[in-house]
Amino acid sequence: MSESRILLVYAHRNPGASRVNRALLDAAATLANVTVHDLTARYPDLRIDAEHEQRLLLEHDAIVLQFPFYWYSTPAILKEWQDAVLAYGFAYGSEGDKLRGKKLMIATTTGGPSDAYQAGGYNQFTLSELLRPLQATANLAGMRYEPIFAVTGVRMLDDAALDRTATAYYARLAAL
Ligand SMILES: Cc1cc2nc3c(=O)[nH]c(=O)nc-3n(C[C@H](O)[C@H](O)[C@H](O)COP(=O)(O)O)c2cc1C
Repeated sequence: MSESRILLVYAHRNPGASRVNRALLDAAATLANVTVHDLTARYPDLRIDAEHEQRLLLEHDAIVLQFPFYWYSTPAILKEWQDAVLAYGFAYGSEGDKLRGKKLMIATTTGGPSDAYQAGGYNQFTLSELLRPLQATANLAGMRYEPIFAVTGVRMLDDAALDRTATAYYARLAAL
């Protein structure tokens, strides 16, 4: 079986200031079958070229959305990307089957530690629960929703732990 072509859609409000996502991205970029696509670098004005984005999606078998968790959700540019790109007739609707069968994996990083993301914890809800809008989107588009890759408690992560996390991310992507 040939390797799947992976499109890694990266959204960070300030990529130059990233520590954790940068380390993940650097690991991902060493995989030959991964196309790294930095939305903020490409669209600093948030004006997404929907046709270009749809072409990119069509050229790949698996989509990874990588982003730091902001206000229990995605950075604004990734929400704008969803609104502009996942259009009727492309991602949903009677002829909107262009993403059907492709895998979707969420890779996100959080300031909150893992025990904050549970019932009774500081944030009350699990990450899987909070990411349900993306899961529902994958469902509507007929995509295969993969287990989330999450890095929690980033402020407690020392450089050695970050290295191990980046290696684990590489392995997840290699197996996608
Ligand atoms: C605007 C903003 C909102 C944030 N919201 C959350 C949040 O809802 N939950 C959380 O755990 N961390 C939150 N954080 C912390 C970020 O997730 C964290 O700084 C990021 O994952 C670190 O990744 P980086 O080194 O790639 O920037 C927020 C940070 C910012 C700047």
